[in-house]
Formats: sequence, structure tokens, C-alpha cells
Amino acid sequence: MTRRALITGVVALTALGAGSARVVDPFTLGVASGDPTPDGVVLWTRLAPYPLAENGLGGMPSRVVEVSWELARDERFRHVVRRGRQWARPESGFSVHVEVGGLEPGREYFYRFATGGHLSRTGRTRTTPAPGTMTTPLTMAFASCAQYEHGYFTAYRRLAEDEPDLVLHLGDYQYEYRKGVHVAPNGNVREVDGPETVTLADYRHRYAQYKSDADLQAAHAAAPWAVVWDDHDVADNWAGSHYSKPEIPQPDFPARRAAAAQAYYENMPIRSKPRGFDLRLYRRVGWGGLTTFHMLDTRQYRDDQPCGDGIKPCPERLEPTRTMLGAEQERWLLDGFRTSSARWDVLGQQVFFSQYDHTPGPVQETNLDAWDGYAADRDRVVAGFSSVRNAVVLTGDVHAAWGAEVKERWDDPASRTAGTEIAGTSITSGGDGSEVYPETPEWFAENPHIKYFNNRRGYVRTRFSPDEVRVDFRGLDHVSRPGAPVSTKASFVIEDRVPGLNPV
Ligand SMILES: [Fe+2]
Repeated sequence: MTRRALITGVVALTALGAGSARVVDPFTLGVASGDPTPDGVVLWTRLAPYPLAENGLGGMPSRVVEVSWELARDERFRHVVRRGRQWARPESGFSVHVEVGGLEPGREYFYRFATGGHLSRTGRTRTTPAPGTMTTPLTMAFASCAQYEHGYFTAYRRLAEDEPDLVLHLGDYQYEYRKGVHVAPNGNVREVDGPETVTLADYRHRYAQYKSDADLQAAHAAAPWAVVWDDHDVADNWAGSHYSKPEIPQPDFPARRAAAAQAYYENMPIRSKPRGFDLRLYRRVGWGGLTTFHMLDTRQYRDDQPCGDGIKPCPERLEPTRTMLGAEQERWLLDGFRTSSARWDVLGQQVFFSQYDHTPGPVQETNLDAWDGYAADRDRVVAGFSSVRNAVVLTGDVHAAWGAEVKERWDDPASRTAGTEIAGTSITSGGDGSEVYPETPEWFAENPHIKYFNNRRGYVRTRFSPDEVRVDFRGLDHVSRPGAPVSTKASFVIEDRVPGLNPV
């Protein structure tokens, strides 16, 4: 079937009428799906014939536009199982979120959208296996930290080529800076359009530029995603209602956070809608009886960073009342551990979890924006690991690949290992990086629970089965030019009931 016949077919099916065809394709931002369940998934697109329109509305006329969608068992849409129509509205940035239900568990589907005689590309998605089942392994890839200026999004393309069943994005999907402010060590390879993102129009405009990237579109079209935000999706190192960058006064940070939350919703395949300032992102994605992903929000409910943030000695970081998750999310997480019957309980979260002392000797210098700045809350989470069979922590933010053992007492290497942390490197942030360990033997001696480090850009591919999780740290030799091949820099296995990383 030719593309033209396909378009005609969709138009006839949905009675959109060929006469209404606009000249310019409105599907320039691709398609996405997310938050799968055993019987449904969210389908997403956003109309923008001119993605770089400064008002953030992508060149759309200021009226509602009807969009039709269909979901099929096969890539050629011979067996369509669901179809419908939805309005793309100016007040939602012309985004479309379709919550499809009534599907079969553990099955692959294909979807596409049409409007005004234009047809979107086809996306592939899937439902999760039926609750309790563990028959098929899960291939999950996770990524974070894609600063547009710092490199080409080749890692997203390579991730798509791995054909994962599920993708987790752990934050810093986009960065707020204006051109020239945050430059990669070897210089920026391309530039963002527009000012630092502060208003809703700014954030919409920035998302549209990112989403025009073909490699990113390929990753979205390959699998359902489950996403959480980190700091740069709003502003560098924000904490709850606090934002304290002395160089940029923020008289109305709550309004900025509300704008960022609205734009995040509009651009992600998620169910949760923001209510002003608040966007509930913590949630669970179950994968049969095999894996439960507890997706966390470590930004929105946290206390301000202690000792004015940064990497330094800070006794205040140990205060028992300090919270990273907030009381409600913490309770929700610990309840989730207690009631879990999954083989693997996985935290999909943003900032470095394990203790990481940056300086040799008795003085501890830790990153106060990470869990080290919220040590008592981390202790409560680690204590909760005792009620699950296997605890695995996935991390973004740090722009390098790390593997670590989560210890019951960090300063006692002989203490029990309670879980395993896998930190993914960035898609681009930091530029090309290097193979060379900047860390010395003294540094590893200071942090004996940290087992692996690599400073290339990429993502992590995991394969969950009942007996083990295989972890492949996938890396690219460069992001400053397009088209780098990917290779596995290191592989580890986590065995059932044996936390820690075994080299393969
Ligand atoms: Fe980042």
C-alpha cells in the first residue's frame, strides 16, 4: 500500500474530508506512548506545523482541531482494534493524550494519528503482562539528561534500535538555558532557540525544538515510555517551592514551576494533569509478577538543599527530619514495598542514591543536591528494602555510568548490601566524554561500594528475568558528530536474592 493510499484510507475511515488538507504537515513532533497497564496505554502527539513559533503554539490557528487516531495489532493497520477522535486545544498546546483501554495484556500494538489530510508516523507500543505472570523476560532501556546543545541525540536512535519493551526517562529531558549559557567542555554542537525558559510559551517552544529531533522521535516511536522529571525540566537544582540561584532572581518561582508542569504534561505521554503548581508524577508501572517500577519525584516535595547546596562537608545533611520524598510519597513508597509481590522492585528516580565521598580522608564532601543531602530519608528507604525480594535503584542526573552496592551502613564496607544502584549516563550532557577514569585508586578506596564508572554518553539496557537482571552499559564514542555506533562498555548481572553487581 502506498503512503498516498494509506492517507486516503485514513481520511475515508474517519470522514475528515480531503478538502480540509493543510499544506504543511502538523505532525512534526512525532508520536509517543506511555504509562502502559495490562489493558491500556496513553497515546500522544502534538500538532505543530511550525515548531519554532515563538509563542510556543507551533503555528497552529487559535481554535480547536479534531484529530483522529487508530490502534492496530499490526504495523500495516489491517487489524484495527480501537479508533476514535479527540480535540487538540490551544489551551493544551495542541497536544493530544488518548487513554486507550480494553486491550489484551502483554501484547504489541501500533498506532497513528490523522488530521486535515495528514497522517502521522506509526508508533509501536505494548501493554504490560497480566498481573502475576512472569513468563516472558522484559527488556527495558533507561535514559536521562539530553542537553540539546551538547550533542546529537544518536544515543536515542541506538536505544530505539535495541527495540526495548519499555523505556524509562529519569529526567533532564530538556534544559532551560538560553543559547551560550551552559557550554559543553568541547563546545556546543548546535544551539537552542529562544530565551531561558520561564513562561509557558518558553517551555512549549523549547519542547517543540527538542521534539523536532528525528533521533528522539525514533526512541518515542519504538516503545512505551514511563517518564519522571528532574531539575532542568523546570530549573537547575530547584527544590520544592525553592529556587535560589543568586545570579537569576526568581520573584515568582511558583508561577515558573506551574508553567513547566503544564508544558511537561503537554509534551509527555502521561495520564496525570497538573493542577497549577502541582503535578503528581510518582506512580507505579507493574510488569506482571516480574517487576514493579516505583517512579519517584525527588524534586517536588524535597526540603531545600542543606548548607546552601554544592559539594562540601555539611553535618546538617544528616538531620533526621530532612526529607527528599515528602511524607506522603515516602509513605506511598514504603507501603508499596510492603504489599509488593514482584520479583524485582525497581526505583525509577533522578539523583545519585549511594553515598559518594568526593574527597580522600576522614572529611566527607558529598553532593548536597543528591540523596547524600537527605541521608535520613535514604536510610528509611533502604530499611524498606527489607520487605521486598530484590531492590534495584535506577538513577539519572550524574552524566556518567555508575554501578554501586547500596549498603546498610555506608561507612562500614562489611555491612550488609541491601540493594543495587545503576546510574545511567547522559544522552548528551557533558559532550563526548572519555574512556579514561578520572577517578584514582584512592577515590575507589574511599567509596568501596562503588564498583563501576564510565564517562561516555549513552543509556543502559536491562533485561529482567526471574533469575537475574542483566545490565548493559551502552556507550557512544562521540556525540559531537552524528551517527556514532553504540557498544556495550560493560555488562553485569544481578542475581535473584543476591544484591550487588557481578561482572559478565
Ligand atoms: Fe542533567
